[in-house]
Amino acid sequence: MLKKVHFFMNGSKKMYKLFEQIEAEGHSRGQVFDDFLDISICSLSGGQMEDEFQKIKSKYNENEFKIFQECFGTLVSAMEIEQCDIIGDLYQGAITYGQNGQFFTPENVCFMISRMIGNFDREYMFDPACGSGRMLLAAAKVNPDRIFVGQDIDFRCVKMTALNLALNGLNGYVIRGNSLSNNYDLVYRIGLKNSGFISKIKPELFKMPKIGYENESDGKVVDSSKKLKMDDFLVKAE
Ligand SMILES: C[S@@+](CC[C@H](N)C(=O)[O-])C[C@H]1O[C@@H](n2cnc3c(N)ncnc32)[C@H](O)[C@@H]1O
Repeated sequence: MLKKVHFFMNGSKKMYKLFEQIEAEGHSRGQVFDDFLDISICSLSGGQMEDEFQKIKSKYNENEFKIFQECFGTLVSAMEIEQCDIIGDLYQGAITYGQNGQFFTPENVCFMISRMIGNFDREYMFDPACGSGRMLLAAAKVNPDRIFVGQDIDFRCVKMTALNLALNGLNGYVIRGNSLSNNYDLVYRIGLKNSGFISKIKPELFKMPKIGYENESDGKVVDSSKKLKMDDFLVKAE
């Protein structure tokens, strides 16, 4: 039996109320959540994902679509006020809750870890099992100027992390794939480019840089004395 929904944040509670309105029109909650993630990512792509956006939009009537827009506004303002992982809280509390649910590290623990690690030298931060990306968000509170890279085996987690990074104005990449085998099939580039904040790049173009190693045949070698750039994560320029 499913447990009751449970939220730690006000923003996720407000978003859930809006989701309920769309659900009441005959859509499943899981589908509404997936479509919300996709619509939001498409909206932040500066037109690159217009076809995908229109395809999802066509599943809903005008009123339902207005609720999605309201939900996006609620997410943005809640993130500004509460400064935390609202979307992950919504996912944990109302989508994957109950039996076999996913649970993310509590936000205060993420922040404690990032404070303990501190502002170390590495210019990028990688979470190979990023969930909704809250470890990366916590690290960004210590130093937002790094490149943040998240990977997860789960599509929803990849999309939540992409949204979280983009809505916090961070730069980085979010990858869908098994961290144990390193095969990627979806890669989002996060950061302002061509009027969008999220873009899709071809998975075969992405490569984690090997910093400071010489004569490394696998991966791009980056001189550790130079500042790491977003393009250092690409096999060749797009
Ligand atoms: C407990 S959550 C932790 C998420 C996040 N790092 C945090 O601290 O909140 C574990 C995550 O690992 C992901 N995961 C499990 N096995 C994986 C694998 N082989 N490769 C990539 N991600 C994986 C799951 O989908 C899940 O999102």
